[in-house]
Order: sequence, then C-alpha cells, then structure tokens
Amino acid sequence: MNILRRISPRAVLATLLVLAPGLFVLDKALAGGGHYYPPVADAVVAEECGGCHLAFPAAMLPARSWARMMQTLDRHFGDDASLDARTAERIETYLMLHAADGQGARYAGKMLRGVAPGQAPLRITELPKWRREHREVSRAEWADPKVGSKANCAACHRDAERGYFED
Ligand code: HEC
Ligand code: HEC
Repeated sequence: MNILRRISPRAVLATLLVLAPGLFVLDKALAGGGHYYPPVADAVVAEECGGCHLAFPAAMLPARSWARMMQTLDRHFGDDASLDARTAERIETYLMLHAADGQGARYAGKMLRGVAPGQAPLRITELPKWRREHREVSRAEWADPKVGSKANCAACHRDAERGYFED
C-alpha cells in the first residue's frame, strides 16, 4: 500500500503519455492500417534493391509485377540492374511471397484497386491508389529539388525505411 501511495498520479500519467504513441504505432501495424507496409526484411533484397532507391516494400506491387520486373532488370527504368541468376531468383521468391496479393495482402489495403488481373504495373507511383493518395500534393512540392522524383518516397515520408508512409 505504501508503495502505491508513493506513485503519484502525475508519474502514472507521464508514463502513459510516453507509452501511448508506441502503442498506437503497434496497433496500426497489427491492424494492417493503411500507413504501414512492412519494410524488406531480407538482407540480400535490401542490399541489391535498396542501393539506388528505397527498397520498396513487397506489399506495394502484385506478384506478377515483381516477376516481370525481375525478368527485365537489364532494362530497369533506364538502368542496368541485372544480377546473377541465383541472387535474382532469391529476390524474386521473396518479393513474390510478400507481394500485395501474397502474404503482404493484409498490409496492402486497397493498393491493387483498379489494377486489372492481366496488368503487371512496374511502378508503384502509377497505381490508381497511389495517384489518388497523392492528388493533393502540389506541382511545386513535386518540383522541389529535395524530391526530384515521385519514386523518392523518403523525401516526404521520413519513416519510409521503417515502413511508415504517413504525411
Ligand atoms: C542501378 C540502380 C538500381 C538498382 C540496383 C535497382 N533499381 Fe529500381 N529503379 C532504379 C531507377 C533509376 C528507377 C526509376 C526511379 C525514378 O523514376 O525516379 C527505379 C524504379 C524502381 C521501381 C518503381 C518506382 C516507382 O516509380 O513506383 C521499383 C518498384 C523498383 N525500382 C524496384 C527495384 C527492385 C525490386 C530492385 C532489386 C531487384 C531494384 N529496383 C534495383 C534504379 C535501380
Ligand atoms: C512530394 C512528397 C511525396 C513523395 C515523394 C511521396 N509521397 Fe506519399 N504522400 C505524400 C503526402 C503529402 C501524402 C498524404 C496525402 C493526403 O493525406 O492527402 C502521402 C500519402 C501516401 C500514402 C497514404 C498514406 C495513408 O494515409 O494511408 C502512401 C501509402 C504513400 N504516400 C506512399 C508513398 C510511396 C510508396 C512513395 C514513393 C514511391 C511516396 N509516397 C512518395 C507525399 C509524398
């Protein structure tokens, strides 16, 4: 009893305030909230696909898109990103397993809405859902030299590396 009386209500409140944001983030991750896309958890994928840009979360594209991308790495958006066959196969397996229509489905939300089953888009930034989410972003913001490209997610989403895409 003595101990309890010694803990001031103020200390309890302060502790709750410190813990609350963490619980909130955890809750969103567990609920598969629209903001969280699990970051790449495979070291090889993170290294090979995270050198030129953010290692985009697998849950942002369907498996067929990743398969198509991995087959055209020698012509990857104007770059040659080709890999030896074994590495490419490992990466393809990881990305397809965690894709928006695979294990990543619980996080991908409506990412695939408006994408026909026969389409295999290579750009996240061309998905109807992505475009809709960024409708409010002004021309001036895109033109900011710190942004440079729509694909430069981390310029605006500072927690993108950790999988959080809030504004
Ligand atoms: C040699 C550099 C390089 C490497 C390595 C590389 N990429 Fe890219 N990637 C690019 C460039 C350049 C773009 C176009 C970026 C832009 O439009 O600003 C791009 C774009 C993308 C996009 C589309 C982004 C959008 O607009 O939605 C995806 C998805 C992507 N890369 C996935 C991968 C994956 C998966 C790997 C690993 C297998 C990989 N990249 C490795 C250079 C690279
Ligand atoms: C120029 C800044 C900018 C860039 C670059 C950018 N975004 Fe965004 N993004 C925003 C803003 C601002 C919003 C919030 C829009 C709103 O709330 O109306 C947003 C919203 C989002 C959302 C929806 C979050 C939610 O509320 O559920 C996702 C997902 C997202 N962005 C992913 C990405 C990805 C992936 C990339 C890179 C391929 C990217 N963004 C690049 C500014 C940016």
